[in-house]
Amino acid sequence: MQWPHQVPGLAYGGDYNPEQWPQATREEDARLMREAGVNLVSVGIFSWAMLEPREGEYDWSWLDQTMDRLHAHQVQVALATATASPPPWLTHKHPEILPQTAEGTTLWPGSRQAYSVSSRVFRDYALRMTQAVAERYAGHSALALWHVDNEIGCHNSHDFSDDAARAFRRWLEKRYGSVEELNRAWGTAFWSQRYSSFEQILPPRAAPMFVNPTQQLDFHRYSSDELLSYFLEIKATLREITPDVPVTTNLMCTTRSKNMDYFAWAPEMDVIATDHYTIADDPLRHIELSFSADLTRGVAAGEPWMLMEHSTSAVNWQLRNRSKSPAEMIRDSLAHVARGADAVMFFQWRQAQAGAEKYHSAMVPHAGTDSEVWRTTVRLGEMLQQLAPVRGSRVSSPVALLFDYQAWWAAELDSHPVNELSYPDEVMRWYRALWKAGVTVDVVHPGTVLSGYRAVVVPCLYMVTDHDAAAIHAVAEQGASVLVSYFSGIVDVDDQVRLGGYPGAFTQLLGVRSEEFWPLQRGEECRLDDGSVARCWSEKTQVPDSGEGEAAQVVTSYAEGPLTGSPAVTRRTVGRGAGWYVGTQLDDAATSSLMEKLLLEAGISAELPSAPRGVEVVRRRGASSTGSEVTFLFVLNHTEAEVEVEASGRELLSDRAVTGQLTLAAGEVAVVREHA
Ligand code: GAL
Repeated sequence: MQWPHQVPGLAYGGDYNPEQWPQATREEDARLMREAGVNLVSVGIFSWAMLEPREGEYDWSWLDQTMDRLHAHQVQVALATATASPPPWLTHKHPEILPQTAEGTTLWPGSRQAYSVSSRVFRDYALRMTQAVAERYAGHSALALWHVDNEIGCHNSHDFSDDAARAFRRWLEKRYGSVEELNRAWGTAFWSQRYSSFEQILPPRAAPMFVNPTQQLDFHRYSSDELLSYFLEIKATLREITPDVPVTTNLMCTTRSKNMDYFAWAPEMDVIATDHYTIADDPLRHIELSFSADLTRGVAAGEPWMLMEHSTSAVNWQLRNRSKSPAEMIRDSLAHVARGADAVMFFQWRQAQAGAEKYHSAMVPHAGTDSEVWRTTVRLGEMLQQLAPVRGSRVSSPVALLFDYQAWWAAELDSHPVNELSYPDEVMRWYRALWKAGVTVDVVHPGTVLSGYRAVVVPCLYMVTDHDAAAIHAVAEQGASVLVSYFSGIVDVDDQVRLGGYPGAFTQLLGVRSEEFWPLQRGEECRLDDGSVARCWSEKTQVPDSGEGEAAQVVTSYAEGPLTGSPAVTRRTVGRGAGWYVGTQLDDAATSSLMEKLLLEAGISAELPSAPRGVEVVRRRGASSTGSEVTFLFVLNHTEAEVEVEASGRELLSDRAVTGQLTLAAGEVAVVREHA
């Protein structure tokens, strides 16, 4: 990981768009940034049309002044390549750079990100802009970090244009080598789909019926790779001009951003940065936030990362946007820090007066500085300064939850047994159970080295490689408790079914064999023999008593319906560990009680057993100046009551000693540097 240059302690700031404001406001901004303790801002993200008003004519004046002014106020800059939205003169001159939907609709300019990432014309213009910005500001003392484009693929990840079709074909030729091999992988003996040349292949455009599933899956893979190749071209240009300045782009590591395989992107980034927004109508939005932060840490391979954007209060793009109380704004920020963020940044510095984001909150709201949002912005800045010693420390966990973008794409393809299955919903069901048990979780890719984890949770890993399935089996043999949920291990990387019974790749590990899926209808419930309730999914499972090693034991069976008496949940002893299979969708209560059994068996207890329900506890571990281990205990009270937990050390936000008992008011956060 490379940290933005000259940014001391934790980074604090947000997107800054001075080009939208008059001079007097810009002067005030710099002063206010100092007041709030801001030390890093992202500048120039959507400023292409302002920097290059006509082709080849540049106007650097406002950006020159901004860089100098920010430097004079000790604020460093994550400088954008300004490529996130092509200027009108460019799309007017080259309308062929616009992306197209599967139906052939052109996505016109007038909004943002209206470009096809596969258009060579667009890329050349974007590289020229990147080069111009990099040459202009190379060596500027305010330049801390390069911010490539913005949320690459947020609105244009799947482009079905002719340029995209050509790029898709090139990608397929590289993957398969020959059209025969592609025919095999795609199973084109079906529905007269056999190709005799790559030239005949198209993106999965709107068609009369289901498009070939492997074609759809490969289009997902290609699209993610194509966006990454755009990032890499820009990065190469930046590297050449400023070899020492780290390069990043803001990812969207959340349960809602499906289209980029960030585990594949991560090794190409100097520091991992992400954006996160809570969802107003989710009463457990703080748990989704925790998951997203843990996923970001997984993408960052455990290293500290940057929260590049979140919101001080309401956003403007949900059905009904929710404002945040000051306590919620602080909890949201510090929950990210607890889970490994070393930067807390917002969209955006000053709330816009015009444009589509004028009702999106910011650090300086419409109301000005005589406002609760501003006072909280200043308070948060102070808190982050008090937390400076946390920087560089890490979070570790005994539990891995496997998360895979490619399995997500495959699991949610059409023409499946249940066509409204949500991969993130299934992942969150298990994550919530772990969160409620007070256990910190590493959200990692299935290809991660798993040895060392005492429990491994594998929700709905529909597609898995032989290699990863073997590694999951091996970690159970070594002593971990492995839990696999339904619709896992079903297909290989070509989305072809593993024959012989479900769950294909995991039948040996789990000691079960399902002959047939038995989906439940909407609203239908099925009681299990322990009184719990199953929904959505069931399957006709047997526990064969012969085979290698011990037979699986039935934990719970269906107590009603056509599968009465067949196993719903099983457990098998595997080497020094165990393999649990959950062949149905349990409700939250049953998921939690099963998780408790698994944690007990694996010898895993809550991070802080004295913490009451609804209190989030995470530890970051680092080294003190003398090299000894130092731990930071983050306690976030999401409840509406005062709570007491056991803790000893120095509470950093209040700079007070804590001896045995920590009292935390409703909604508040404490960070205790613990005694060794
Ligand atoms: C992000 C984007 C920002 C801003 C923000 C609003 O997706 O990067 O530019 O639009 O959302 O929530």
